[in-house]
Amino acid sequence: MQPIKHTLIGPIRQAVTMANLPLKGGIKDEQLEIIPEAGILIKNDRIHQIGSYWDMYPEAQSIGAEIVNLKSDFVALPGLIDCHTHICFGGNRAKDYALRNAGKSYLEIAKSGGGIWDTVTKTRKASLEKLAQLTIQRANRHLKDGITTIEVKSGYGLSVEEELKMLRAIKQAGENTHADLIPTCLAAHIPPKDFEVTHRNYLKAITDEVFPILKEEGLANRIDAFIEETAFTPVDIHSYFQKAKEMGFDITVHADQFYTGGSQVAVDFGAISADHLEVSGEKEIEILATSDTIAVALPGASMGLGVPYTPARKLLDAGASLAIASDWNPGSAPMGDLLMQASVLGTFEKLSNAEVLAAITFRAAAALGLQDRGQLTPGLIADIVLFPTDDYREITYQQGRLKPFKVFKKGTEVLKV
Ligand code: NIG
Ligand code: FE
Repeated sequence: MQPIKHTLIGPIRQAVTMANLPLKGGIKDEQLEIIPEAGILIKNDRIHQIGSYWDMYPEAQSIGAEIVNLKSDFVALPGLIDCHTHICFGGNRAKDYALRNAGKSYLEIAKSGGGIWDTVTKTRKASLEKLAQLTIQRANRHLKDGITTIEVKSGYGLSVEEELKMLRAIKQAGENTHADLIPTCLAAHIPPKDFEVTHRNYLKAITDEVFPILKEEGLANRIDAFIEETAFTPVDIHSYFQKAKEMGFDITVHADQFYTGGSQVAVDFGAISADHLEVSGEKEIEILATSDTIAVALPGASMGLGVPYTPARKLLDAGASLAIASDWNPGSAPMGDLLMQASVLGTFEKLSNAEVLAAITFRAAAALGLQDRGQLTPGLIADIVLFPTDDYREITYQQGRLKPFKVFKKGTEVLKV
């Protein structure tokens, strides 16, 4: 039997629980549950109790809880969740920035042999250990920003062996960082330039040879595809997703980034999320709003490429669920600053604080199919971030400049400032 460890954190000026809020549609700031002078009692890796610090203090003392006594003003939020990243990659694409600013589009760079394929070449050159090490470094940077759960995609291997290498590197990284890494197989990122014959043969090789190993080795429960004219079309991807569904994988889609079509595929296959959506119009918004698929905006990709933002306001007003993720990757979104990007999207799309915070907490958890995090609620994992302020609105107002003071992951303090 493991010894029971209790920790009481407080008094917290405002604990913003993100509890009792709708999964879909708009949210007003007034709907937020904010507990003043709060205490959070942790039992091992879970939140045991949340309420008034001074009411909880005597009992916590009597059971020998460690007291993390806060001597100034802090706001507590659930650990932030980045539900879409590509942080496992080799090299960089710094030259693309200059090319794009000189007038070349992302797709033109890709067509001329650069773009994603450039990163594939560099990632293939890196060893599994090197990729794991790079992924750990990036995950730890996110952890410092209060992000305690990070989805990580493959997709720069683009062969049976290299995709497995990436996913094994992500698994190894997950075992060596406090952040939880949620792996996704994005073998259907772009058709590999060196695969003999056709796209379909490549996808068949992945379903036949990679999918079973994902299950055997516990490498990923999620399958993603980039649906795009220059990547995979809805027709290309049909049997791939069908096979993935039959095998019990969750589906997620890179949808409507440059052309529409992906969101329909996502909804048709009951995808857990449809991500990007920069060019989604009324029809796509309606399709998503009337489905259970979570819409994921990736403002970092809009900033990276200089293209319009995902119509987040319209999606929420139509009744969709909205998560926001960084898309951190070497091409379209090299910045990787989730809170900054979510706050800026809020500015452009007129989102409430509650909508921005929901999009990087419990709605992002839903986009990953995780019910055990994303709120400060008894029974959930004790992932908690403390910001040095007495007003939760400063977190979005400062657009990412206000950094966490303490971060707890599964009840353990992983960042002390
Ligand atoms: O989500 N759109 C496709 N894939 C990634 C970019 C990958 C890259 O450019 O390296 C994205 O933006
Ligand atoms: Fe992406």
